[in-house]
Amino acid sequence: MKIKHEWHKDFFKNSFYNPASPAAVTKAPEEARFVLKQLKLKKGAKLLDLCCGPGRHAVEFAKKGLAVTGYDFSGEYLREAARRAKKKKAALRLIRGDMRQLKFKDEFDAVVNLFTSFGYFQNFPDDLKALKGAARALKSGGRFMLDTMNGEFVRKKFHPRSWTRMPDGSYRLDETVYKKDGIVVAWTFLKAGKKPVSRLFFIRLYSRKTLSAALKKAGLTPLKFWGSFQGALLSDKRNRLIALAQKP
Ligand SMILES: C[S@@+](CC[C@H](N)C(=O)[O-])C[C@H]1O[C@@H](n2cnc3c(N)ncnc32)[C@H](O)[C@@H]1O
Repeated sequence: MKIKHEWHKDFFKNSFYNPASPAAVTKAPEEARFVLKQLKLKKGAKLLDLCCGPGRHAVEFAKKGLAVTGYDFSGEYLREAARRAKKKKAALRLIRGDMRQLKFKDEFDAVVNLFTSFGYFQNFPDDLKALKGAARALKSGGRFMLDTMNGEFVRKKFHPRSWTRMPDGSYRLDETVYKKDGIVVAWTFLKAGKKPVSRLFFIRLYSRKTLSAALKKAGLTPLKFWGSFQGALLSDKRNRLIALAQKP
């Protein structure tokens, strides 16, 4: 499967995929509660939701009294985040940009990157740029939480082909191959009476060991890891890899 270098530019569009599915929106308050418990922030603390997408966590953080900045590459998703914030009477500062080009310095008490919004670049130095930017954006002592796919789970449960029934009755076909240190996945949406639509994405497969090493390279100290937003232990039987790190 041949994937474009900057595949994310075609993938994150409402016409193809929106991360704020009804199921994902329902889970957001519980996920946000877990994140905030670990970040230990006071009211008014400054939080950066890096790759905030349509803002389903960002509005929850703002409702808890934090000063939230949402940052994302997709203008469509940011507009949706603004609409969601207005509806929920939550204040959000929203900024459009690439996660490899963060300009903030010593500004935030916490940075979060949630729902597999990391590991997208086929060259590791690009992933590192994003982590270094997050580290730079933090104040000294500030905390960073990252939630991504658990690479050890994916390797153990590797399925080259699988089908998912979507809530509207249509189907999604997932075809996966290993590439470099990650996977390339082709998602094809099949809807009755419509032409099938496909897009590819790349995810670097991180384990606790490789993510710890990357965090340290970026100047962050890994503190703790989990395998779920319910606080379960990290395990190759769980599909999430959730890391908490701190800027010295
Ligand atoms: C899986 S979505 C998750 C969105 C959000 N965190 C959530 O939980 O709903 C990944 C997000 O990363 C954003 N993204 C992808 N590549 C990016 C890049 N290079 N720079 C900034 N944002 C990017 C996408 O636009 C999308 O909103």
